[in-house]
Amino acid sequence: MFEVKKLGRHLGAEVTGLDLSQAVDEATFQAFSKVFFENEVVVIKNQKITPEQHIHFTKRFGILEAHVRKESRHEGHDEIFVLSNIEGPDGKPIGAIDAGRFWHSDLSYKEHPSMLSALYSVEIPVREDGRVLGDTNYASTTAAYEALPESMKTRLQGLQSVHSYAFYRNKNRQAQKEEAAAGGRVIEEKELTEEQLRSVPDVSSPIVRTHPVTGKKGLFVNEAHTSHIVGIPESESKDILNELYNHIIQEEFRFKHTWGVGDLLMWDNCAAQHKATFDYRLPLRRLMYRTTVRGSVPF
Ligand code: SIN
Repeated sequence: MFEVKKLGRHLGAEVTGLDLSQAVDEATFQAFSKVFFENEVVVIKNQKITPEQHIHFTKRFGILEAHVRKESRHEGHDEIFVLSNIEGPDGKPIGAIDAGRFWHSDLSYKEHPSMLSALYSVEIPVREDGRVLGDTNYASTTAAYEALPESMKTRLQGLQSVHSYAFYRNKNRQAQKEEAAAGGRVIEEKELTEEQLRSVPDVSSPIVRTHPVTGKKGLFVNEAHTSHIVGIPESESKDILNELYNHIIQEEFRFKHTWGVGDLLMWDNCAAQHKATFDYRLPLRRLMYRTTVRGSVPF
């Protein structure tokens, strides 16, 4: 059927023997799905897939989301979010240029956060010496939860935190300003319309989230989208969140993916969080297509 090689201690596996440009039968899909949820991050290398095939395969996991940033959607395929530093004829990036700057899980600010994401690499930045740039970093939030001291597990039980797209936009804008002031590329993000903003109101979710498929418990807070913990003083909320962020991204819970053209990398947003690496710039080009599958309301 296909083969699986584990890559990381807690997360990460490579699946070989699948060609997603061809029909995948139901038994193979179910077996893949099981491997995916067991390993939290899975790569299928050397794929040659069209946007339709990308959409078709990932749609088998559930409903695909169209991202609130309309200008970064793929032309003709709303379900595909384009991540790229390439400039179009108008001089503007053809996709989101700084997605994944902070540790996060995709769309955690939605009432139905993403269950999984599938990122397909079309072009990758490669240095003259052959080193590929733009790695994606992962951390297992289930392994991190397991390793917490019992006192912290008890402290977190029943607590909720707020995930906010508005919080993220402000944090990102601040980071962009700092980068521009330090001589980096100036990014002009299109302002969201009132209607777009209304479509992403703040949501509160349990900090300890139960995985709807595996039943594992994991930490559902991230530095990009979590604004605060509900019902406790601000300084205490900050302290707990910072402690959790530092705990989650410890080396022992981590996995790093170095890209090849044609990789389809899929990750479980309920079990892992991720962060991009911006160690490349034009003329080195990066072009990625991402789909995200809508998940269930966290519990
Ligand atoms: C993401 O955060 O979805 C993108 C990660 C990456 O571009 O490496």
